[in-house]
Amino acid sequence: MCGIVAVIGSREAAPLLLEGLQRLEYRGYDSAGIATVDAAKSSLTCKRAQGKLVNLVKLVDDQGALGQLGIGHTRWATHGKPEVRNAHPHRDSSGGIAVVQNGIIENHSSLRKELESQGYEFASDTDTEVIPHLISRELNLIKREGETSNSTWLLEAVRKVSFQLEGAYALAVIWEETPEALVVAKRQTPLLIGFGEGEFLCASDTPALAGFTRTILPMEDDEVGLLTPLGIELYDSLGKRQQRSPSLLKGQEDVATKNNFRHFMLKEIYEQSETARLWTDRYLPLGLSDEAPIALPFEDSFYEGIERIQILACGTSRHAAMVGAHLLEQFAGIPTTVFYASEFRYAPPPLTSHTLTIGVTQSGETADTLAALAMEAKRRAVYGDIAFASHQLGITNRLESSITRQVPNILDIGAGIEVGVAATKTFLGQLLAFYGLTISFASRSKQCSSKEVSKLINELRSVPSQLITLIKQHDEIAEQLSQQFVDVQNVIFIGRGINYPIALEGALKLKEISYIHAEGYPAGEMKHGPIALLERRVPVISVATPGVVFDKVLSNAQEAKARDSQLIGVAPEGRATEVFDALLPIPEVSEWISPLFSVVPLQLLSYHIAANRGLDIDQPRNLAKSVTVE
Ligand code: F6R
Repeated sequence: MCGIVAVIGSREAAPLLLEGLQRLEYRGYDSAGIATVDAAKSSLTCKRAQGKLVNLVKLVDDQGALGQLGIGHTRWATHGKPEVRNAHPHRDSSGGIAVVQNGIIENHSSLRKELESQGYEFASDTDTEVIPHLISRELNLIKREGETSNSTWLLEAVRKVSFQLEGAYALAVIWEETPEALVVAKRQTPLLIGFGEGEFLCASDTPALAGFTRTILPMEDDEVGLLTPLGIELYDSLGKRQQRSPSLLKGQEDVATKNNFRHFMLKEIYEQSETARLWTDRYLPLGLSDEAPIALPFEDSFYEGIERIQILACGTSRHAAMVGAHLLEQFAGIPTTVFYASEFRYAPPPLTSHTLTIGVTQSGETADTLAALAMEAKRRAVYGDIAFASHQLGITNRLESSITRQVPNILDIGAGIEVGVAATKTFLGQLLAFYGLTISFASRSKQCSSKEVSKLINELRSVPSQLITLIKQHDEIAEQLSQQFVDVQNVIFIGRGINYPIALEGALKLKEISYIHAEGYPAGEMKHGPIALLERRVPVISVATPGVVFDKVLSNAQEAKARDSQLIGVAPEGRATEVFDALLPIPEVSEWISPLFSVVPLQLLSYHIAANRGLDIDQPRNLAKSVTVE
């Protein structure tokens, strides 16, 4: 969370910073700020505004911020309320040093006490503000003499400060006494240097750089970098110069437009048929053999020796992983466990042998997922399970993200840039990735016949065209049905088996964009407690798709109806569905592929409920698209 951008070159920095921040706003929109240094006057200007970037743009338009060197920040509040005084950049007491930071400085409170006892005065409640004060203190300690320039002093001060910081951070620093340089540093939080024409840039993520350059160099942990208009220098924590070549951006990093849609979320829901088409064209082209029925980018050796799978993920990605686990276990016969990455980090299960670890993250940047994967690799190496220490797989939508640098095997879901904070088409892409893995494992394990595998493949090939019709149909149905949710405050989603995670996902979508309290529950568990919540004002949405648990789910739905709840069904038309007060019809497909359809009406219903309430659907309160703090 939080996005940082920095630039130094021959053009005015402020417009470049604002453009970069606009492309990073998905990382947080509690406040935004920039600081620039005007070389002619050796003076630093800092502009900060609460709320969305548009407020900062107006402020900079009105008041200006001169200089060809600058840093910018878009904030997702961790320490301190989303107010101007907590907005970045933060400055030292003289106002001459400014810092932007993404991450969490875990020892900020002891550092603050120490600095305060030495007379440093703080102006914010943030963890970040200790950094400019620490840099100022280091600069005062550095013996400024001889031939070295100010920029070397700043570099050295930041390197020394980095030893004092605990936690994860990416930061950029400017000082009014060094209009020829900016300094950057990072640990466990991404920071990329961009080589532009006549300028060098630095940012938390590739979209912020892609508008200026496609030549990038990701920084390594504990590195400190000096950027000048003439080049960059990277140093490790001991001050040893590092030499690495930049590479070219591979992925599609363009800024998406809404076209004629009211919101990105709606556009991205509609794009799901295209996500599925691209996926089937790429991974299920016609003419594959029974022995290798899917074109995943892995050699046979990738699958060798795998007896178990564990999946680490957060939020919506975890729901996709749960569907994946159902498929991998029930269809392909591989024991599979899903963990919240944030829980796994501090309470991992005892090690099991021959276990493939999969991380699922659309952004490729979720701190907990990355840290859990790293911890698992280390743990296995320590215990001597060398083969499976490095045998990890990442499922992501971002080929230029941190997970692709961390994990050796990557499955690209190829859904294209997703702007809406609520994940929709990337969820579908993640589901499809798991269908791909299931087919691969099933055809190798011989758990099911090649006929069954072929049947699943054929069904998957028909998904893109079926989704086109379904999305259009449900856009209209959901818009009408959403009128009934004007005064609703609680909603229960139920499902079973492969569609239980879809009930969870339906509840999450509704919560995050409409702010209505919602719970997803396994339908059979309702009577063990949650049924007490049911009454006339609490609608129940039941995902009931034909298959092993169809009759069971219908009975559970009846039980809810008997408690006066309005009962809405996500089910195929005409299949004992008279029990429902309202029906969100989906095609009658095999239970295996039903989640690819059952999620769509729930996405659209959440969307229309939130739209009716006039909410900020693409940037819901308190959320960010990329969760880079733990
Ligand atoms: C909800 C949503 C989040 C993310 C979660 C993990 O719509 O998008 O729950 O799924 O923050 O993000 P990634 O997939 O980037 O690891």
